[in-house]
Amino acid sequence: MNDVHNFNAGPAALPKQALERAQKELVNFDGTGMSVMELSHRGDTYDRIHTHAIKKIRKLLEVPDDYHILFLQGGASLQFPMVPMNFLDSQATYILTGAWSEKALAEAKHFGKTVIGASGKDGNYKQIPALNQISEHAQDSYVHMTSNNTIYGTQWHAFPNTKAPLVCDMSSDIFSRRIPVNQFGLIYAGAQKNLGPSGVTLVLIQDAFLQRAKSGLPAMLSYDTFVKSNSLYNTPPVFSIYMLGLVLDWLEESGGLTEIENRNKAKAQLLYEAIDESDGFYIGHAAQDSRSNMNVTFTLANDALTSVFLQEAKEAGFVGLNGHRSVGGLRASIYNAVPYASCEALVDFMKQFKNKHAEKGATV
Ligand SMILES: Cc1ncc(COP(=O)(O)O)c(C=O)c1O
Repeated sequence: MNDVHNFNAGPAALPKQALERAQKELVNFDGTGMSVMELSHRGDTYDRIHTHAIKKIRKLLEVPDDYHILFLQGGASLQFPMVPMNFLDSQATYILTGAWSEKALAEAKHFGKTVIGASGKDGNYKQIPALNQISEHAQDSYVHMTSNNTIYGTQWHAFPNTKAPLVCDMSSDIFSRRIPVNQFGLIYAGAQKNLGPSGVTLVLIQDAFLQRAKSGLPAMLSYDTFVKSNSLYNTPPVFSIYMLGLVLDWLEESGGLTEIENRNKAKAQLLYEAIDESDGFYIGHAAQDSRSNMNVTFTLANDALTSVFLQEAKEAGFVGLNGHRSVGGLRASIYNAVPYASCEALVDFMKQFKNKHAEKGATV
């Protein structure tokens, strides 16, 4: 067995226990003689898988009863146009905290008027805007934000109390911590970081917000279609939903969101300490108050050492440490399933690398 330390940004590390259970059940699920991928999505067995996943989401995330839980396809990227298509009326406000919020804004522009409520762009997206810096209008159709900026390694640690319904892309930190679901009109997240394999997008939508959705849209692009059909309007991504259920079983067995949040904070603290105590050899990208507990982004003072770091890290069994192509440098994505021990191993590696190359890299 090849054990690696997986720091991929997404698709990302999944809990071993969930993978092993899927392996055990793969060719004969629950005595059916078939794999989950071969079951009818209209049959009782799949219905139990589907219902189980929805129940686990509601329980673990404490989703209030007036929120619908949907499984869609097309990734978080399809939510970028689907939100404005369904909800953008007079005007929507977008808060820009990185490349993904910019993409969401670009799609909204196809459907109506948008305004920027706050932006971290001038500061190279190192900082999350202060809550009192956000401008919005009570008449906005909604305010859109991104809770965790996967590429820049920044995260909101408190959410704005907006007058208009708040819509949030939580793709890279959903289920990493407790969240006040009732502060949001709609939450969406691609599954492939904390929830399971790619192929399914989780959407939570408050019923009162849904009532404002436009009618006359193509069925596959209307939230109402999926609410009315319990996400079974067409063939859902059955295997991804099954895996999501197994990942949430693991999460519950691990102690739920409070416990996972503590673990995530401890992992992040370990890495940020290694960066801060490196005498400038490693430089964190995000401002201290905006640091993400999911994606730790940093550079080397001597950029020429970046490729050496990546090569030596690869040889030592570390995967996925390269920064996003638009930012460069290094990034360790430490989602729920990344063990504390992998972060400890990375910190050891970073210290050894610094000692080995210190004379080449200590100065900026
Ligand atoms: C915050 C955020 N939003 C959106 C996306 C795009 O997700 P998808 O690939 O599921 O469309 C990503 C992907 O990494 C992301 O990190």
